[in-house]
Amino acid sequence: MLSPFFLSLVLASSRVLVGAAGPVEDYDVLQYINPLIGSANGGNVFAGATLPYGMAKAVADTDSESNQGGFAYDGSNVTGFSSMHDSGTGGSPSLGNFPLFPYAKCRDDDVNGCVFPKKARKTSYKHDSVKSSPGYFSLEIASGVRVEMTAAHHTSLFQFHFPPGKDNSPLVLLDLSDLSDTRQDNGTISIDQSTGRMTGSAKFLPSFGSGSYNLHFCADFQSSGWLRDSGVFVNTRASDDVHDLTISRSINGYPLPGGGFIRFQNPPNGLVQARVGVSFISPKQACSHAENEIPDFDFESTKSAAIAQWTEKMKPVRVSRDGINLSVLTNFYSGIYRTMVNPQNYTGENPLWTSREPYFDSFYCLWDSFRSQIPFLTIFDPYSVTQMIRSLIDTQRNLGWLPDCRMSLCKGFTQGGSNADNVIVDAYVKGLDDGVDWEAGYAAVQKDAEEEPFDWSNEGRGGLKSWKEVHYIPVEDFDYEGFGTMTRSISRTLEYSYNDYAIAQMAWAMNKTADAQRYENNSRAWRNLFKKDQTSFLNKKDTGFTGFFQPRYYNGTWGHQDPLMCSNIDVSGSICSLQNTAGETFESSIWEYQFFVPHDMAALVKLLGGPDRFVERLDYLHDQQITYIGNEPAFLTVFQYHYAGRPAKSTARVRTYIPDYFSPTPAGLPGNDDSGAMGSFVAMSMMGLFPNPGQSVYLITVPFFKSVSIKSPLTGKTATIQVTNWDQFNTNNTSGNSTGGTGFIHSAYLNGKPYTRNWVDHDFFTEGKELLLTLGAEEGSWGTAPADLPPSLSETSGVQGRDWSSMTQETADDEFIPVLGRGRRHLAKHGLHFEHHAKFAKGW
Ligand SMILES: *[C@@H]1O[C@H](CO)[C@@H](O)[C@H](O)[C@H]1NC(C)=O
Ligand SMILES: *[C@@H]1O[C@H](CO)[C@@H](O)[C@H](O)[C@H]1NC(C)=O
Ligand SMILES: *[C@@H]1O[C@H](CO)[C@@H](O)[C@H](O)[C@H]1NC(C)=O
Ligand SMILES: *[C@@H]1O[C@H](CO)[C@@H](O)[C@H](O)[C@H]1NC(C)=O
Ligand SMILES: *[C@@H]1O[C@H](CO)[C@@H](O)[C@H](O)[C@H]1NC(C)=O
Ligand SMILES: *[C@@H]1O[C@H](CO)[C@@H](O)[C@H](O)[C@H]1NC(C)=O
Ligand SMILES: *[C@@H]1O[C@H](CO)[C@@H](O)[C@H](O)[C@H]1NC(C)=O
Ligand SMILES: *[C@@H]1O[C@H](CO)[C@@H](O)[C@H](O)[C@H]1NC(C)=O
Ligand SMILES: *[C@@H]1O[C@H](CO)[C@@H](O)[C@H](O)[C@H]1NC(C)=O
Ligand SMILES: *[C@@H]1O[C@H](CO)[C@@H](O)[C@H](O)[C@H]1NC(C)=O
Repeated sequence: MLSPFFLSLVLASSRVLVGAAGPVEDYDVLQYINPLIGSANGGNVFAGATLPYGMAKAVADTDSESNQGGFAYDGSNVTGFSSMHDSGTGGSPSLGNFPLFPYAKCRDDDVNGCVFPKKARKTSYKHDSVKSSPGYFSLEIASGVRVEMTAAHHTSLFQFHFPPGKDNSPLVLLDLSDLSDTRQDNGTISIDQSTGRMTGSAKFLPSFGSGSYNLHFCADFQSSGWLRDSGVFVNTRASDDVHDLTISRSINGYPLPGGGFIRFQNPPNGLVQARVGVSFISPKQACSHAENEIPDFDFESTKSAAIAQWTEKMKPVRVSRDGINLSVLTNFYSGIYRTMVNPQNYTGENPLWTSREPYFDSFYCLWDSFRSQIPFLTIFDPYSVTQMIRSLIDTQRNLGWLPDCRMSLCKGFTQGGSNADNVIVDAYVKGLDDGVDWEAGYAAVQKDAEEEPFDWSNEGRGGLKSWKEVHYIPVEDFDYEGFGTMTRSISRTLEYSYNDYAIAQMAWAMNKTADAQRYENNSRAWRNLFKKDQTSFLNKKDTGFTGFFQPRYYNGTWGHQDPLMCSNIDVSGSICSLQNTAGETFESSIWEYQFFVPHDMAALVKLLGGPDRFVERLDYLHDQQITYIGNEPAFLTVFQYHYAGRPAKSTARVRTYIPDYFSPTPAGLPGNDDSGAMGSFVAMSMMGLFPNPGQSVYLITVPFFKSVSIKSPLTGKTATIQVTNWDQFNTNNTSGNSTGGTGFIHSAYLNGKPYTRNWVDHDFFTEGKELLLTLGAEEGSWGTAPADLPPSLSETSGVQGRDWSSMTQETADDEFIPVLGRGRRHLAKHGLHFEHHAKFAKGW
């Protein structure tokens, strides 16, 4: 469906974005965004209408078992139409507060003839009626009512189109509930008898965290039919005599159904509109949002404004469409779109503290999004990331700790490390600035490393006393300083190691040399859980690989966890989550976590027997389907061949996952989108540059397009990737010797000079460089030499080793792997390039 706005874009589409070697034409990319991708099969995406990072998110809610994002395109029933959602999350269904529900008329023309409680009123929808595009969602429920919706930042606008009927008298109810039925204390609603305006509030619980939040609403209705009556309902009964309701928390744990209704005389055009403003501050603020954002109930202009915002946000990246079909383009641009649905911009909506800083919420969770989503946005939308960073730092300033997960103004559960550290440092090494108080940022990440919170299931890290003493998280740790579930000792050790590496990067750059050495030392702690003689059996057969991470007690004695436990192929029903009985790895196996040493891959490759043996292991991980691409720890493993000098294998591997596991269909995602984490995996993989987050490093693979151009919103410069002989490998070339594959990089030029490194740094984007790739049919020698590999800690720092005095000599000797340093290159580089006010400081 082309709006006039689209049309003007199409007409202007001959405009060219890039000069240099090969321009990529501009075009309307919204036609390639399908918000329904991931709305079935557990993708849990928010499929409805929203602005970029918008707080109001309007969609139809369903009773699906995967209704975390409200709507699930799986034939489940519609329970209502609500304005607040998260996207792609696991945990309980999130938000979905104050749903509306329409009836063309009530039985016997009596309000009590309408069905009010959610469990009774839910209804099927017509499968083919579902339409979704940026800023727009609609469907038709079984009764024939077609419901359209669009959104402004804090306000949703719904249109209920009633089927013609001469005795219609449309009723719309507003229910004081949410998707997970978590209403606490009293819910309230007041209905203005003369205007029909409904205002009210209720307290709810977050979906993957602690505490509670209050949300307020302001609903106005408009119709060409006269306002007939209004009132409240409680349970199954309603009355137009009562216009104020305070309803108690629950009966036997299930919130008593209750809310308001409004009824109209039969509207000549069959239409009733509902405008719903939401606010965490007050009903009054919800009303003023609604009045300011959608003053005239103008659906088309609200929708056009949303389209304009999405068009603007989608501007920085264009790929060549030459030889590319709709499906590939839709996969790519929809992935990008999903990276900007969450987090949500709640600036001005935070009742918890007073501050002039931005406030972002729905970091759900940073454990997921640090890997590629926020790094992607750092390239694509740095202004927003800067605000997110400022918000994270401000959250720490006011609540004491950085979150690992945060939603609905509440603390979310920490899954492993303190991964806000990675996020903050990633932005720092990539030179984001614009008002960020980096000293406060440093203090925040340092606190994670130094101080144990009382309740570390919500923030920070646990086991810090042991961590400082034995330099790993012991299994069955004795931790009396703070409380959390005593599990995940292996994955926490690995993540804490990486967190400390990240902090060290920042410390080096800020000339905090003693800190830098200390955190860099800590970042080697991952080795302390490596048990050299540990074997792994698959179906009673030796996998042929020896040496795996294992749990370890405080006294140095090894515990045991089968390296395949909780892997994708483990059918034993083992639990690796947050429960007290869970294993020592989070949501994955030792087999997968053995590759999580993003900062010192050179040391890991060496430890696992050198590049050839390393590649065999990585192949085994993927070929035996031990890893599961539907969860974030798998992301980097797709590209880690680069560190063994085999970048061609990363290119080959990513093609086994996209599009087979990520396709542009409702059931097309392999797992929860996790607030856009999966979307960013698709986007960056297809661009052919994948980040190693926390470092200024992007691993080069063959892009899915003949050319890609990325314009830096910070510098205005355009980086391009061009594949000179794309067609030979990537089109339906049946004539010559086409392998039908992707081709592999045989040579590269960066800004016109031969380039053999298999990675680029962040300057590539900010300085608008040009990367030219030439492909060959077979794996070539490009990017394979030791000097071509991305940096690793043990290759770049002179600081090494650790304090072994607390270990027994036997284990220390056994496990110590000496590393040869090559001087503090990165320190010198940082020292040279990093000035606090330099806007585009270099990473390394
Ligand atoms: C949806 O609701 C209808 C009644 O309106 C019921 O017959 C049907 O079984 C429900 N479908 C599902 C998937 O629950
Ligand atoms: C709920 O409202 C009732 C009636 O106004 C009041 O008595 C009661 O204290 C309220 N409870 C809470 C928890 O706010
Ligand atoms: C490849 O061939 C199919 C079937 O003929 C066609 O639909 C598609 O557009 C072609 N793709 C390209 C990239 O030329
Ligand atoms: C689109 O192109 C991709 C990559 O060439 C191919 O895998 C896919 O089958 C094509 N899809 C359609 C619908 O032609
Ligand atoms: C977030 O919202 C505030 C207040 O509405 C606005 O000033 C700011 O520009 C928004 N940030 C982004 C990144 O859109
Ligand atoms: C760090 O020290 C170097 C060398 O003295 C100096 O050039 C640089 O500005 C300092 N950086 C910071 C962030 O203080
Ligand atoms: C270390 O602690 C574990 C767990 O309590 C125990 O099983 C083991 O025997 C201890 N080892 C030594 C050497 O004391
Ligand atoms: C198809 O492949 C042949 C042989 O590799 C090559 O010469 C030819 O240019 C290719 N066709 C296109 C359209 O690229
Ligand atoms: C195609 O090229 C590859 C190497 O470039 C070669 O191994 C293979 O034999 C060739 N196939 C044909 C049919 O020419
Ligand atoms: C880092 O480890 C080395 C080797 O164990 C040790 O000499 C040094 O004191 C440590 N540095 C810090 C700052 O902890």
